[in-house]
Amino acid sequence: MEKKRSAIIIGATSGIGRELARRLLGQGWKVGIAGRRKDRLQEIQSQFGADQVFQADMDITQPAATAALDRLLEQTGAPDLFLHVSGVGYQNPGLDEAVEMQVIQTNCDGMVRMVSHFIYFVKSSGAYGPNHKAHIAVVTSVAGTAGLGIAAAYSASKKMQSTYLSALSQLARMQQLPVIFSDIRPGFVATEILSGSHHYPLVMTVEKAGSHILRGIRRKRRVITFDWRFRALSALWRIIPRGVWERLRFIKTRN
Ligand SMILES: NC(=O)c1ccc[n+]([C@@H]2O[C@H](COP(=O)([O-])OP(=O)(O)OC[C@H]3O[C@@H](n4cnc5c(N)ncnc54)[C@H](OP(=O)(O)O)[C@@H]3O)[C@@H](O)[C@H]2O)c1
Repeated sequence: MEKKRSAIIIGATSGIGRELARRLLGQGWKVGIAGRRKDRLQEIQSQFGADQVFQADMDITQPAATAALDRLLEQTGAPDLFLHVSGVGYQNPGLDEAVEMQVIQTNCDGMVRMVSHFIYFVKSSGAYGPNHKAHIAVVTSVAGTAGLGIAAAYSASKKMQSTYLSALSQLARMQQLPVIFSDIRPGFVATEILSGSHHYPLVMTVEKAGSHILRGIRRKRRVITFDWRFRALSALWRIIPRGVWERLRFIKTRN
């Protein structure tokens, strides 16, 4: 009998992470899910059963999250796929310090904590090798393409995530680690992160985002940017000269 494939999803309690959890579970994967909201974790486990879903509540901004990840790994065994989805994002033209810091602590500190701890597990568990590589995928964003004035910490945090993955990918080759990476860069997706009074263009459904992501992961794509409109936009952003970019106005603000 073919061995069940397994994944860990950090940030599976809502939005993109929950959609990915549901899809993988629907395809028969064993999935370890994590996030802060215990009721949401419980809901998914009740729906699919405790023999297929394992859960750990954790706050990735806290050092204790690594012990929670270890407990989850004890239940799932060495997963084929480690998906880091957790993140927060806000428009913050007033540069409210608490908001800026929460974004950095979650998207930068939290992501580094979880991904580097998982790589430590890959190295120490002896469960991986040339024929069984761990696939680490992180949901970053097209927002990391260039600094956005209305979301300074968010766009910078997403660029940091992409740069970190690029560095890890080089390091893994240098050290011949059995790991491959995907950098998942969605455009706007209708999830809780976009809730609020702002208007966003070209928003796609979470179901559509889930299809794009899993197709890219199946194909082991190093960078997964979607959909085509955001691929075109981010290609354009990259060639706009800095002096022009920094004069663009996305919203009028006096803050
Ligand atoms: N929606 C978009 O337009 C869009 C576009 C590009 C990139 N993204 C990225 O996609 C990722 C998922 O966002 P989403 O759109 O699915 O929004 P979401 O529904 O708000 O999901 C955010 C997830 O992150 C988790 N999370 C937040 N802070 C956490 C913490 N301190 N510890 C552990 N988990 C934490 C949340 O779980 P708990 O609250 O239960 O902890 C939740 O599962 C984010 O990294 C976001 O930057 C989203």
